[in-house]
Amino acid sequence: KKVVLAYSGGLDTSIILKWLQTEYGCEVITFTADLGQGEELEPARAKAELLGIKPENIHIEDVREEFVRDYVFPMFRANAVYEGQYLLGTSIARPLIAKRLVEIAQAHGADAVAHGATGKGNDQVRFELSAYALDPSIKVIAPWRIWDLTSRTKLIEFAEKNQIPIAKDKRGEAPFSVDANLLHTSSEGKALENPAEQAPDYVYQRTVNPEDAPDQPEYIEVTFEKGDAVAINGQAMSPATLLAALNDHGGRHGIGRLDFVENRFVGMKSRGIYETPGGTILLEAHRGIEQITLDSGSGHLKDSLMPRYAELIYNGFWFSPEREMLQALIDKSQEYVSGTVRLKLYKGSVSCVGRWSDMSLYSEAHVTFEEDAGAYDQKDAAGFIKLNALRLKLIGNRNARVK
Ligand code: ARG
Ligand code: SIN
Repeated sequence: KKVVLAYSGGLDTSIILKWLQTEYGCEVITFTADLGQGEELEPARAKAELLGIKPENIHIEDVREEFVRDYVFPMFRANAVYEGQYLLGTSIARPLIAKRLVEIAQAHGADAVAHGATGKGNDQVRFELSAYALDPSIKVIAPWRIWDLTSRTKLIEFAEKNQIPIAKDKRGEAPFSVDANLLHTSSEGKALENPAEQAPDYVYQRTVNPEDAPDQPEYIEVTFEKGDAVAINGQAMSPATLLAALNDHGGRHGIGRLDFVENRFVGMKSRGIYETPGGTILLEAHRGIEQITLDSGSGHLKDSLMPRYAELIYNGFWFSPEREMLQALIDKSQEYVSGTVRLKLYKGSVSCVGRWSDMSLYSEAHVTFEEDAGAYDQKDAAGFIKLNALRLKLIGNRNARVK
């Protein structure tokens, strides 16, 4: 039996690797993805080899461009935000990891995939719904839901018994759990579990404290083509390069910090600290260019569907017909979302302060407070208001009558 494991190279997934070998007697194939988490991946190869994985069973891939181009950017076309604030940085990465796990399983003739998400969270749901959608016959092994290594002590004992190297700082309990990629860093659990208490400063890993950000604002220009960002300050960039550059700008100015209590799909509430510097800039920029390029009908319709779309991604339904239907609608709306926005970055905030486009629907001739040379006849507004007021007047009369 063969199983493909989503392997980070860290202690927990190394324990899972050994556990699959010893308890399940499986041949383990590892998949380690560079999603822009900012960690070296070669140590994961060395560690997998040390744990007895054959070189041809070790897969290490840079998926940053695919991640941003095919997952992050489509999601940003929708301005997707979960429960008003969360930019879905972890949620959007899971379908891609699951897709590669399934593809690698098929290439090796493996019948199962395995992941290191716990039985309490969203990530197990996202990995598994994605995997089953892409390969209905795949089996999923989720060790955290099965094994009896239920305490740190038991995990460390298991690691020692199986010669799994343990970094000095990993012996004790980690202060909180972190998930990072090009879009965000999320921290949750343990030291952060009491939502009444402010998170300590050391939790933040990729943004400076806004109080310590430069006293001078910085201005940048982001150019869009059909809803996707393609250049910063006139310089064309690939999707992943562009998001990385926005992360640098945002991180320096303390942009994109969020302390948030959310509803997990499995029913409980959880508190997380999120840092999404580039994504926060991108959202403001995209909304800025939509302001002049989308008509109100398309804009209001896609905005009304956005919470549904965001919830689908949060709940793990990326590979579902309803997400694809909404995506088709959203993508259609982006046909003319091209142009440039100017953004001001200053002490934790990003504001769109200018926007222009060849596709603009903004008509100064119509909106001007000055003489408009016949573009708009103000007299037309009287009839417009009169008919819109008709039913309100009828209601007002009825209310006066029955009072
Ligand atoms: N709560 C976030 C989500 O469901 C992040 C989950 C993973 N984060 C972590 N620190 N383990 O998308
Ligand atoms: C986990 O349980 O693995 C992390 C948290 C989550 O999935 O929501």
